[in-house]
Amino acid sequence: KLLPEDVDTDDCLTSYTYIYSPDLLKDQVAFITGGGSGIGLRIAEIFMRHGCDTVIASRNLDKLNEAAKKLSAVSGRRCLPLCIDVRQPDSIMAAVDEILKEFGRVDILVNNAAGNFLCPATALSFNAFKTVLDIDTLGTFNTSKVVYEKWFKDHGGSIVNISATLGYRGQALQVHAGSAKAANGELTSSEDARFFLKLSGGLRVEAAGAFQSIPLQRAGNKTEMAHCALFLASRASSYTTGAILVADGGAWLTSAND
Ligand code: HXC
Repeated sequence: KLLPEDVDTDDCLTSYTYIYSPDLLKDQVAFITGGGSGIGLRIAEIFMRHGCDTVIASRNLDKLNEAAKKLSAVSGRRCLPLCIDVRQPDSIMAAVDEILKEFGRVDILVNNAAGNFLCPATALSFNAFKTVLDIDTLGTFNTSKVVYEKWFKDHGGSIVNISATLGYRGQALQVHAGSAKAANGELTSSEDARFFLKLSGGLRVEAAGAFQSIPLQRAGNKTEMAHCALFLASRASSYTTGAILVADGGAWLTSAND
């Protein structure tokens, strides 16, 4: 299969070949947590290239301001940077009020913000474990609840949760993130909106041989993740709800023979 364009850095794409109609999200508004860098930034870019205005939100306003400028320049759409901490419901409420004041609507929520680090279970402090659950799981719930109460309850909308397959089989040094992602899977399947689960395919592990046990023999790129989010956020998935879409090159389904 032809791979979509991507760049490893937090720059926008230098070229982009459309797969979907460029109007797919025309004049919609997407709220993307953790949208200032990485996969969240690429999701914002791909959504904007499909006619969507975006709100990117995180704790780092400088990073968001820089990202918003780049995103608007490349797409011609509006991008509003807002400072939030998904662990603080008050900050989310203020952000959603601001979104509704600025845009008058919000159609899509992408719960992409996450916190993680590698650490043996035996070395995790009480607060270290709690912090990752707070960001990944409670943060997803908090943001969904605020957007639902303030807009989706009366107008509908799509929620896309970005997660990982860490919670499926377990992984060394990841008991905290695996627990959080497993909980997010249940949060997703049990919900009454549209959700999505995915794996970034080890984007940062480029060591030789690291991908040999992945059926597709490579890492996924950020644009591929954004295309999954686009499908789930858009009318392309109009009869899909509570679904978990794993985009990991088949990785979690199999393991090496040796
Ligand atoms: C052990 C650690 C640690 C580490 C922090 N802690 N880093 N413990 N090893 N490397 C502990 C601290 O000692 C502290 O516990 C507690 O965690 C909270 O740390 P703080 O720094 O006070 O918290 P905070 O400032 O809120 O930072 C949150 C964070 C941080 C998650 C810890 O790393 C962060 O903000 N990262 C940026 C976001 C991020 O990580 N994005 C990557 C997501 S990737 P004590 O007991 O000392 O108080 C992702 C994908 C996963 O999620 C799937 C991949 C395949």
